[in-house]
Amino acid sequence: MHDHTPKGHPAALDGHTTGHPHGMKPGDREEGGRKIWLPRLIAWELTRSCNLDCIHCRAAARFGPYPNELKTEECMKFLDDVVSFSKPIIIMTGGEPMLRDDIWDIARHGTALGLRMVMAPCGFLVTEEAAKKMIEAGIQRVSLSIDGATALSHDNFRRVPGAFASVMKAIENCKKAGLEFQVNTTISRHNIHELPQILDLVIKLGAKAHHPFLLVPTGRGAALKDLEISPEDYEKTLTWFYEMREKVPLQFKPTCAPHYYRIFRQKEKEKGRNVTQETHGLDAMSKGCMGGQTFAFVSHTGKVQICGFLETECGDIRKEPFSRIWNTSKVFQQMRAWDDYKGRCGYCEFRSVCGGCRARAFAFAGDYMEEEPFCTYEPGEAAKKARDFKKKASGG
Ligand SMILES: C[S@@+](CC[C@H](N)C(=O)[O-])C[C@H]1O[C@@H](n2cnc3c(N)ncnc32)[C@H](O)[C@@H]1O
Repeated sequence: MHDHTPKGHPAALDGHTTGHPHGMKPGDREEGGRKIWLPRLIAWELTRSCNLDCIHCRAAARFGPYPNELKTEECMKFLDDVVSFSKPIIIMTGGEPMLRDDIWDIARHGTALGLRMVMAPCGFLVTEEAAKKMIEAGIQRVSLSIDGATALSHDNFRRVPGAFASVMKAIENCKKAGLEFQVNTTISRHNIHELPQILDLVIKLGAKAHHPFLLVPTGRGAALKDLEISPEDYEKTLTWFYEMREKVPLQFKPTCAPHYYRIFRQKEKEKGRNVTQETHGLDAMSKGCMGGQTFAFVSHTGKVQICGFLETECGDIRKEPFSRIWNTSKVFQQMRAWDDYKGRCGYCEFRSVCGGCRARAFAFAGDYMEEEPFCTYEPGEAAKKARDFKKKASGG
């Protein structure tokens, strides 16, 4: 098995992948002093059909069927194109990706091409037999979501009775098959008080990683603005994760929570520690929002986005190859120009490690270049002057 992630990085499954604070990291290519951006993680919504009805779902997914989804040949062609210029991790997600009849063929094709194929199923379909099939198809990790410490809390959020029990069963089946799994938890007012119990459960279950997602008000989640935790609670929650990270036997990857990477640096500095690759490994290399930089999303009909939470279309793999969209999309270029982000995000001292959530900015301001609305940090005036000077010097 090969791993495209940095040394020692327990490969991420969901959310955004890693990146060097200055956009460059070992293994990145450079040409004429310019960084060559390459995808390291692609979330691929293989179908929007879903057997859950989650209250917050970014895709507002229903059982379907959805018309016009990518056909098998189109899926294979997409993977061929991806490997023509990069070797990202491919997250087969949904909806419920296992509702596709050709899911094993697609997984096998990606594996044969040398890609790290991982999957984000809902739980109900991960039988003992299906877990074995995943292994046979080369799937290297699955993510399963636990959004409540109890069946009541989880099922109310996922709006299907038995959803919690199905995830527990799915985990048992993955373990029997020897398949690695991580747990994703979307955090909102419904479960913020349950976080310590959820974390306990995730550890007891034996997950490799825990990826807490902070609610993005998009899709069905757009109607949940009153479930959003306050910016102050964001700060407290992310600080809690920072404090827990050295106490738990698994990897945390706060997702849609880019300010975690600022908090991480601030807290380490308070302890007199500089965050470097040598001292902090993966944590030093991780960046908050990597949408359009090392991360991309492809929808069930082939539309390309910077991530699953920002619906702005950046291209269509039915009209042009993904490789071209990756290199030429205007939105992708904008994502890579951190100094042009608006408001505090454009000059914040931490912009190269955080970047703010572009989808949350869009949901609140109607502009994905705007500042992250859930960040409490006020960058110094000097940072603004330095950014303006830099832009002027480069003719911007
Ligand atoms: C695309 S989903 C994976 C699909 C899979 N069917 C599942 O059951 O989770 C990836 C993660 O995104 C989370 N998610 C979905 N909508 C979200 C939203 N509006 N804000 C934050 N996280 C969200 C899900 O809870 C899940 O943990």
